[in-house]
Amino acid sequence: MQISQTEAEQYERIPTKVFPTSDEAVRVVAAAISHLVRERQQQGRTLVLGLATGSTPVKLYRELIRLHREEGLSFRNVVTFNLDEYCGLPPRHPESYRHFMEVQLFQEVDIPAENVHVPDGMIARSEVFEYCRKYEERIREAGGIDLQVLGIGRTGHIGFNEPGSAVDSRTRMVTLDRLTRRDAARDFRGEANVPEYAITMGVGTILEAREIALLAWGESKAAILRAAIEGLQTDTVPASFLQRHSNCQCFIDETAAGELTRFRLPWKVGPVYWEPPVIRKAVVSVAGELKKPVLRLRDEDYTENGLSPLLVETGSAYSLNIRIFNELQHTITGWPGGKPNADDSNRPVPAEPPRKRVIVFGPEPLDAELGMAGTLHRLVRHQHEVTFTYLTSGNLGVPDNEARMAISLLNELSVNRLGDIAGKERLAELAKEMENKAPFDEDSVKLRQFKGLIRKAEARASCQVLGLDLSKVLFLDLPFYEKGRYRQFATSEQDIASIRGLCERIQPHQIYVTGSGADPSSVAGICFRLVSSALEASGKEAWMGACQVWLYASSERPWYPHEIDMAVPLSPAELAVKLDCLYHHRSQRSQTPFLKTQSGESWQQAEHSNRTTAEHYDHLGLPEYEAIESFRRMKEVERRR
Ligand code: GLP
Repeated sequence: MQISQTEAEQYERIPTKVFPTSDEAVRVVAAAISHLVRERQQQGRTLVLGLATGSTPVKLYRELIRLHREEGLSFRNVVTFNLDEYCGLPPRHPESYRHFMEVQLFQEVDIPAENVHVPDGMIARSEVFEYCRKYEERIREAGGIDLQVLGIGRTGHIGFNEPGSAVDSRTRMVTLDRLTRRDAARDFRGEANVPEYAITMGVGTILEAREIALLAWGESKAAILRAAIEGLQTDTVPASFLQRHSNCQCFIDETAAGELTRFRLPWKVGPVYWEPPVIRKAVVSVAGELKKPVLRLRDEDYTENGLSPLLVETGSAYSLNIRIFNELQHTITGWPGGKPNADDSNRPVPAEPPRKRVIVFGPEPLDAELGMAGTLHRLVRHQHEVTFTYLTSGNLGVPDNEARMAISLLNELSVNRLGDIAGKERLAELAKEMENKAPFDEDSVKLRQFKGLIRKAEARASCQVLGLDLSKVLFLDLPFYEKGRYRQFATSEQDIASIRGLCERIQPHQIYVTGSGADPSSVAGICFRLVSSALEASGKEAWMGACQVWLYASSERPWYPHEIDMAVPLSPAELAVKLDCLYHHRSQRSQTPFLKTQSGESWQQAEHSNRTTAEHYDHLGLPEYEAIESFRRMKEVERRR
């Protein structure tokens, strides 16, 4: 793959290509792989690929499968070595990386079984050292890795080389980091089930590959990518060691690139076109850097921070400060549905009509509550007609223990009180399944439906805290989710039609959605694309002409004030209501309280995120609130009309 860097990329110590979406990025990487495979075929040689697991490479593997099916790309001359494997998981375990690779790639292409290598997680502890040495020997015998595909963990790990891994580390057994185990908890239905150890190629092993392609998508990777790409090489961010490799490139999407200097502080890397959002970003970032309120910034503060061109463009600091201060102030509103009978020329939401029809889309139960429970509460109190729509039931996220508890409770009721034989039989069937199934066996359709009921009950209870009318709390149960599994979802027109049907029936004045910055293969990422497609399809409808589409922030990372178009403040009492609402999603609370850290729980993250946004506004010299929920206007969706 060709490597060249531009002026804008001067801070990047690993050459990085940024693509509008992950789809475009994987097409480029898959085409490069396909080119290498064919080149070697012509030479009668094998190609040795180093492969990764996780959500990130799923799309790449799908594209390779497509090239195999539609463009005749053969993998007969490909040899693969996987980076890592969990210890203690047999190959057929649904969460083992061997199983992942079989399902996501190997089964679907013509690669000979003897050509694939995944570390064996079942190797006895006493034999691990020797086994790892042999794994490396096999790589060398195969001629060394030609191209290594990598993802990156939020700890900065590559493979399972957690912080602290040495630059010359080799294939070995490692202990997994707390954050890594928490990130894997969802797949394993609870953190307690995530293995504690793994076997991984070392950093040194990875660096021996002739070429390396690191892939990353979504805003959750933005901060660690910045550290890996622009920071100093350090073993606290093992991916930063990739800076040493002369033929390593990052292929990332725009949301993952958000923290790189060329996007965060574009004026530092070259001339910029001073559009209003860039100006706002520049002022907010100088104020943040100097810890000064906007109205106290002086000309020197701008010039000393590389922003003389901005002053030339806009005049003095004085007028610039006032302008941006006003803009920021106008994002704040306690009236997310518009303030009736008030001048709305500087408000994010129009006053008319005074009573709006609103649809709030939640990917899985809890997502929308985390992002906007306080705002939902306000919309309800201000008498807007709110339809809260859960796009999926979330049954995949219910730990077995929760289902066991619910079955036993219902069983008690039906046996001792209701005498409902039919119900009892159904419950007995579920109880039997729970008894016989190993922790990671696929749930039957009935058990999934049952787990879905648990989440729906929790969701309804949390909606009641917000005062929502339960007849307007809908569950779309989108087919992609009901029929799928994490990382194996396939969407269809049916999903879009279902969302579109709802929008056309309600003809909303406001739509709230999330997930634009989420990993595209996550439920939130998929739901975002489905809602966008549905709105695009409805683009010409008259109601869309008057509809504002709002994106609410996930608790993944608080948005900076310059990224926010509407900031809805929460009083201490309103924040308490929000936390009460979140607390009703009990199946989503940590299953391992003795391991839990202060900020580990999703409701804690949401609280932290909302408080941080309030602090940001306060530091800029705006009013000091307890907490703030943030929203961005989705003009790109509205503009399609
Ligand atoms: C996993 C794997 C890594 C992977 C990383 C990121 O634990 N061991 O190889 O790159 O974590 O995972 P994801 O792509 O799901 O974000």
